[in-house]
Amino acid sequence: MSNPSLLILAGDGIGPEVMAQVSRIIDWYGDKRGMAFDVSEDLVGGAAYDKHGTPLHDDTMAKAQEVDAVLLGAVGGPKYDDLDFSVKPERGLLRLRKEMDLFANLRPAQCFGALADFSSLKREVVEGLDLMIVRELTSGSYFGEPRGIFTENNERVGINTQRYTESEIERVARAAFDLAMKRNRKLCSMEKANVMESGVLWREVVTEVSADYPEVELSHMYADNGAMQLVRAPKQFDVIVTDNLFGDILSDCAAMLTGSLGMLPSASLGAPMANGRPKALYEPVHGSAPDIAGQGKANPCACILSFAMALRYSFDTGAEADRLERAVEKVLADGVRTADLMQKEGGTPVSTTEMGDAVIAALDASL
Ligand code: NAD
Ligand code: IPM
Ligand code: MN
Repeated sequence: MSNPSLLILAGDGIGPEVMAQVSRIIDWYGDKRGMAFDVSEDLVGGAAYDKHGTPLHDDTMAKAQEVDAVLLGAVGGPKYDDLDFSVKPERGLLRLRKEMDLFANLRPAQCFGALADFSSLKREVVEGLDLMIVRELTSGSYFGEPRGIFTENNERVGINTQRYTESEIERVARAAFDLAMKRNRKLCSMEKANVMESGVLWREVVTEVSADYPEVELSHMYADNGAMQLVRAPKQFDVIVTDNLFGDILSDCAAMLTGSLGMLPSASLGAPMANGRPKALYEPVHGSAPDIAGQGKANPCACILSFAMALRYSFDTGAEADRLERAVEKVLADGVRTADLMQKEGGTPVSTTEMGDAVIAALDASL
């Protein structure tokens, strides 16, 4: 049997810096665990625009459709801010999500004990937090039509459309209920059913799907209250399911519960392929961090933990995913800190590569 295939799209800014640490970890799994991957690399975002004049070349899109999993770093940066909307780096990522039909975006927010003091919230509010946001990723206001900037009555008008079909809601709801069944059997659905028809439909469909999951305790919350509750008492949640835009915002909010945006991984999953694996792309929740790019300071943990999610969701090796997550946890418990995790303690931060060194040493120690 051939090795599982990975396509690495490191992208822009700190993307290549954090992804370099993941490449070392992939090699570690080949050398030390006999888990060899066929790895290819390509361009996305600004890097692809610079070479091809498009943020995602058709050949790269075709490769992404064929591999077992895509690993993505980050896209975007000030250099590309004035580009036409159609070729902005972010469009490359959105095209991958849409054409691979990656409708379920899993964004876990776990607060490692060693980082409980790094959150902007009190230790007791976040310590032990372990929640999962399931964000719908291929529809809603990110993709709805009509969209654009038009002229009406001699002034410009910007339009985006929030649009959800019931099948789009149903499939992401099922993904969230399935996850809830494997966790604490508690699901909170967030929308704005008080002001948006799409939210009314969302609530109805999620409630209908819940009939197939009688063991899951379902609750509904308006997304604005949800944002407040995430900050007030985040441990009340286990799995949260929400739409594309609310999920984007709520997951950045959840990031601060864990100490740093540099800690949050994600998995974007679609329907199963012929080999039974889901179509999948793994990426950190953070962006290209232009303010620190090129300085060797970025925290690679979110990207490393995204690879752990690949081990779990694409390669059915939950034990190896656990091993990698425990390695990151141990490194943090040992006090190894990149600069983003230094606000309170002071001391000398380690570089991106040194954080990679420490994780690999912890992996070695786990054998
Ligand atoms: P950002 O996530 O890039 O950065 C926000 C803040 O968090 C910055 O201060 C940054 O230094 C810090 N940060 C982020 N990741 C970090 C890490 N791993 N280690 C240490 N610090 C980290 O968000 P932004 O500044 O709003 O966006 C910058 C660019 O990235 C934009 O072009 C945006 O569109 C893009 N973006 C891309 C993705 C993606 O590729 N998935 C996600 C979000 C933003
Ligand atoms: C994210 C990012 C993206 C989004 C951008 C870069 C397209 O913010 O993955 O959270 O808005 O979905
Ligand atoms: Mn975002």
